[in-house]
Amino acid sequence: MKIMKVDHYEEMSQEAAKLVKEKIKANPKATLGLATGGTPVGMYEQLIKEYKEGSLSFRHVKTINLDEYVGLTAGDENSYRAYMNNLFFKHIDIPNESTFLPNGDADDLQKECEYYEETIKSIGGVDLQILGIGGNGHIAFNEPGTPFTSRTHVVKLASATREANARYFDDEEDVPEYAVTMGIETILESKEIVLLASGENKAEALRELVEGEKDEANPSTALQGHPNLTIIADRQACKKLG
Ligand code: F6R
Repeated sequence: MKIMKVDHYEEMSQEAAKLVKEKIKANPKATLGLATGGTPVGMYEQLIKEYKEGSLSFRHVKTINLDEYVGLTAGDENSYRAYMNNLFFKHIDIPNESTFLPNGDADDLQKECEYYEETIKSIGGVDLQILGIGGNGHIAFNEPGTPFTSRTHVVKLASATREANARYFDDEEDVPEYAVTMGIETILESKEIVLLASGENKAEALRELVEGEKDEANPSTALQGHPNLTIIADRQACKKLG
């Protein structure tokens, strides 16, 4: 594991965007695994800037997201599909049909999970996966206790996660209780992983990931065994690292 310590959120975002850009330059048909939440917003802004300046094209790139809430339609402003469209896709030249998220509104969610696994395979797997980390150590929506052998599945969100994400909804009650998420084993199959962490509220989770025991009680520790993992974290998030 490689740890890149940076000063602040902006620098984290720029370094992350640089790695994404290098990946696309090396392979214009790369498949990017993408995350939502607050952490990667600055990275998306930086990538949009690069696109607008003409130094980067996403025309042949494919993207596959980690997760989606259950019960929200793609048109719902709080769905992760809407997040990705509004904060990234509509500002760049990626064709809509090259962007994949689970359908959290599918009638048969089990089938949807299987279909998502097949989709990942059919586009050749993930070349570069961007991850955030939950304050409780979750990666994607794999909450504490999720088996490291998990594949894409439906998960009941931890109350800490619903609380943390309530900032996007009118009311905490409105945060969906369930989500579809790539599994831990699915994520570990990514050829390269870049995990981003910013802020003091991620310091304990980051310490566990870097220095803790590998344990299913802390999903992020599964990443310890990944052969190509880079962590980009700002000073606040690194506060508890020895
Ligand atoms: C988002 C995701 C989550 C977030 C995590 C951190 O697609 O999979 O694991 O990365 O909850 O969220 P933020 O960045 O909002 O602190």
